Amino acid sequence: MQFFLDTGNVEEIKQALDWGILDGVTTNPTLIAKTGRPFMEVAREIVKLVDGPVSLETVSLDAEGMVREGRMLAELGDNVVVKIPMTPEGMKAVRILESEGIPTNVTLVFSPTQALIAAKAGATFVSPFVGRLDDISSDGLKLIREIKQIFENYDIDTQIIVASVRHPMHVVEAALIGADICTMPFDVMKKLFMHPLTERGIELFLKDWEKVPDRPF
Ligand code: E4P
Repeated sequence: MQFFLDTGNVEEIKQALDWGILDGVTTNPTLIAKTGRPFMEVAREIVKLVDGPVSLETVSLDAEGMVREGRMLAELGDNVVVKIPMTPEGMKAVRILESEGIPTNVTLVFSPTQALIAAKAGATFVSPFVGRLDDISSDGLKLIREIKQIFENYDIDTQIIVASVRHPMHVVEAALIGADICTMPFDVMKKLFMHPLTERGIELFLKDWEKVPDRPF
């Protein structure tokens, strides 16, 4: 499973790149707004930094506007993926952009039928939101299982990005289900490294190392 960061924060992206575990980035208007920086400046920087898909979101509600924005975003780099909301107008835009060789990521997906429609429109990626479903006492991961099953039934090659991830167990379950990608906030990615027994083990090894005579380092 590929790991994407769900962020507009360049420092977080640099750190994840240093760890060597970053496969791509997803952004949305909320995440960009959090940076307080001009959109095109942040977008350009992220696209240059990351050697993998970078999803940048359109904000128009009509297909024509989405296509216009999508074409503009695609000019930032070959790795740009245009993020389009799951609406009828959005699906029109997906078909046009994909026919021009511009990859799309259909966002705000909350049902298996929405995922199937996005795939039929030709989307490269589909982003079902698990956390927001859990937030309303629904089952976000059940949605991922259903989409995965449907895509397998029909050999659909649209990739599933598990989005709206809140904690490491979402990542574990996404991997067990066999989702293609999990996009997560930086805090969740950091937590994936952690285990109290690892920390305790390092502590003990370092303590015992002190007892070794003639240490080279
Ligand atoms: C997906 O690409 C979205 O950017 C994101 O995962 C939304 O997550 P949220 O529900 O935490 O805002």
